[in-house]
This record gives sequence, structure tokens and C-alpha cells, in this order.
Amino acid sequence: MSQTLNHPIKQPQNNPLHSLEEWEEDLLNRYPDPNSILKEGKTVETYRNYETTTRDTVKEFYRLNHINQTYDFVLQKKAEFLKFDKKEMTVWDAVEFLNQLVDDSDPDTDLDQLQHLLQTSEAIRADGHPDWMVLTGFFHDMGKVLCLFGEPQWASVGDTYPVGCAFSDRIVFSEFFKDNPERNNPKYNTKYGIYEPNCGLSNVHMSWGHDEYFYSMMKPYLPEPALYILRYHSFYPQHRENAYEHLMDKHDEEMFKWVKLFNPYDLYSKNPNPPDWQNLKPYYEDLVAKYLPPTLKF
Ligand SMILES: [Fe+2]
Ligand SMILES: [Fe+2]
Repeated sequence: MSQTLNHPIKQPQNNPLHSLEEWEEDLLNRYPDPNSILKEGKTVETYRNYETTTRDTVKEFYRLNHINQTYDFVLQKKAEFLKFDKKEMTVWDAVEFLNQLVDDSDPDTDLDQLQHLLQTSEAIRADGHPDWMVLTGFFHDMGKVLCLFGEPQWASVGDTYPVGCAFSDRIVFSEFFKDNPERNNPKYNTKYGIYEPNCGLSNVHMSWGHDEYFYSMMKPYLPEPALYILRYHSFYPQHRENAYEHLMDKHDEEMFKWVKLFNPYDLYSKNPNPPDWQNLKPYYEDLVAKYLPPTLKF
């Protein structure tokens, strides 16, 4: 598929990461696989010095994310992208489209986007989880096509968190929020900001990125736990750090069991032996046909 596309990823001032994988590799420094820690004889303490060892590119990525993600920015992006008027594609064209991101990745990353999706979904399938969860694994990062629509890295990937209320100090590199214009806005800078205690996450606006975008696209088609996984899989400040319980209701707590179940498949399913796509394709074609219409509007 040849397209004339903006490749914002190549504008270093706005896109410091060499590839989107750099963010995800960095997540592994922060949340290392418990099994590999054991194997290598490391302890969790080894990772406490995380912030001093993080690559400058990753820090700069978080700095841009934290100063630019505001309540107004999120509303503006929702209005722009949740119309889904950018492109209509079959699921398979979308997978191919997403795989163009590999063109921009650094040469050290040998796995393309499809492989990450497939390794996640195959690990879920191997553990005998329901087929909609396998499909969710296969789709969870499809929203990264935002980058191919010209969106900067900091508005496509990265940890997500609520906007419209105080930024938690349990968000990675929270010190960068000091330059977020909403830090000094009394409407937004209190614990609850514009929200009510335990109002439920469906009433909360999250920072903008691939999660919210693809969740909204899948809303009519997938069961609720799948939608929670899509929408909150990068919400590390909650599913790993428990920093926003005060905005969640009972139902969110229940549904976050699925988000937590999913997270290790996303982080730790990297496998040096890539699954054989040609063999697996018929299974995924049937699965996609079971849940989704022939084309999707992006
Ligand atoms: Fe993701
Ligand atoms: Fe992922």
C-alpha cells in the first residue's frame, strides 16, 4: 500500500522517540517481568533508580506529553478523531497500514507492529481465555495509526491519565507537569477538579492517545471487558500504581480485573520465535468476521 503520508515521527523536535517501541521497551524497565527478574537474580530494588537511567529520548517524550495533554486538548482531539472520517479500511488493510510504522522504527527493533499484536493475542489464546479477549489482544494497539495520520508521538502513545483534575505524582516523570498550563488553573488542579468523588471513569476524560481512539471505534462491536482493556491498557497510573481509585466506581473496579489480567500479555509476551502469520491467518480471519463488519471507519 503506498500512501503519501505525513511522517511526524521524523520531526525530532516533536517526536523524540526513535520508534514507538522505545516507549514500550521503557515500560519494561519500569515494570520488569517478574520471571526474568528471578532468572537474572535481580531484585525489584534494581529498578528503583529508573528515572536516572531512562534514556533522554524517553524523558523528552514524557516532557512533551505532560506539558501538552490538557483538558482542552483532549476535547479538541476527540472532536477531530471520533468522527471517524479519515479513512475506511478492511481490518486487513488496517493491519498493513499500521505495519508502515515499522519503517520508522530503529534498526534494533526486529519485530513489527503485527508481531507485537500477534504475540499478545497468541499468548492470550494459549492460556485459554475467551475468543473476544484474543481479538482484543490482536487489536489493542491498532489505534497507533494516529501516528500515520500525522499525530505526534506524545498524542498517540505513552501512559494515560485523567485530565481535568490534579495530575497524580504517581504518574511517571510527574515533575514535568509543572509546565502544563492546567497545573495553575484552579478549576482543574484540585484532587477532583471538575469531577465528583467516585463518579466512574466513564465520566472522566483521559489524556489522548491510541487507547481512547480505538476503544471508541470498537464500542459497538466488543463486550464490555474488551472495551475496558482497549480504553485503559496504558492507564499505568491506575492499573499499576492505583493512583486514581477516588474517581472509579464499583463497576470500574470490577472491570479493571480484566485490564490487569491483560497487562502482562502486553508487556511480557515478546517471543524470539515469531508466530507464523500465514498459518494463523485463517483463525484470525474467522475471529474478525465473527465480531466485526467487513470495513472499519478510522
Ligand atoms: Fe497500547
Ligand atoms: Fe501493546
